[in-house]
Amino acid sequence: MVSGLKPRVLLVGGAGYIGSHMLRNLLGHGIKPVVFDNLSSGRRAFVPQGVPFIKGDLKNEKDIRLALGKFRIDTVMHFASSIIVPESVSDPVKYYENNVLGFINLMKAMKESGAGNIIFSSTAAVYGEPQKVPICEDAALAPTNPYGHTKLMCEQILRDTAASQNDLSYVILRYFNVAGAHHNGGIGESHEPETHLIPIVLRAALSKRKILRIYGDDYKTPDGTCLRDYIHVEDLCDAHYLALKAIQQKARNQAFNLGSQKGFSVREVVGTSRKVTGRDIKVKIEARRPGDAARLIASSVKAKNILGWTPKRGLEEMISSAWAWEQKARR
Ligand code: UFG
Repeated sequence: MVSGLKPRVLLVGGAGYIGSHMLRNLLGHGIKPVVFDNLSSGRRAFVPQGVPFIKGDLKNEKDIRLALGKFRIDTVMHFASSIIVPESVSDPVKYYENNVLGFINLMKAMKESGAGNIIFSSTAAVYGEPQKVPICEDAALAPTNPYGHTKLMCEQILRDTAASQNDLSYVILRYFNVAGAHHNGGIGESHEPETHLIPIVLRAALSKRKILRIYGDDYKTPDGTCLRDYIHVEDLCDAHYLALKAIQQKARNQAFNLGSQKGFSVREVVGTSRKVTGRDIKVKIEARRPGDAARLIASSVKAKNILGWTPKRGLEEMISSAWAWEQKARR
């Protein structure tokens, strides 16, 4: 942990899906962070009463400078990005502006305020279409969509800045497919529009009128649909907490994949969802979606060896927690 004291953490994007789970994780460890969010997709209601909240936007340098200075932050966890792969293909400028420009403002404000630690949310999309799976951290970095490019640029900014600035420590966490909801039931995934597979499948389970469109069944995979490595959001937050503890020692200035080393096809996700919900889920095969890789499966060896992290919750638990949340959210 940062000098053995409780870190003063700023959760950028702390009212969003993953940020709000991280907030609960830190509170559970006795750390009270500050939340910074522009509420473009996050929800004020996801931040419990008593947690300091700043409505601000990373695109306004002043907002983030004020937040870091006012609360004397030493560690930033950065969850605030645009994350939809197909949208990044149709509107790349939005992605470069939100994800790269916003990040540069954050880095400048951190340097000015003396906040020296950052845990950065990156993505499996930095690998593009991998040569082999499971993917190790030293695999080629070759994104196939603008979203992946923006995250790779931010990673590079971190590497270059840390090389020139000794007082900066970073950990890059490359997420695979995050899913599931908090065990207490109060928060969960709620993007608008929703593009992620598991919530869409569950909405199709909830409504007889909805059909799941499967984007491509002609990939070179066992059943022709894409393989993804799904990871429970609470396991993901456990990894962040371990990274926070190790940021100035063994995890310093390194990148880690966060996945389970298991791939599930779109059809397998639908099958498990039918089992968990007990409902019929109608599907229709559509053309491939631009920017999709056939297989994204993480090697989780490095995270295990250095952070001591292994995911504990499987696909069924992800889907059943997401199902509980969806039923509540749609009432
Ligand atoms: N899919 C469908 N139908 C849908 C939605 C998704 O068939 O209605 C398929 C996609 O084509 C893909 C798979 O389900 O094959 C998973 O798609 P998601 O949209 O749920 O997730 P992605 O793999 O595209 O992207 C997610 C995150 C990214 C991250 C990536 C890393 O959104 O931020 O995981 O694996 F980079």
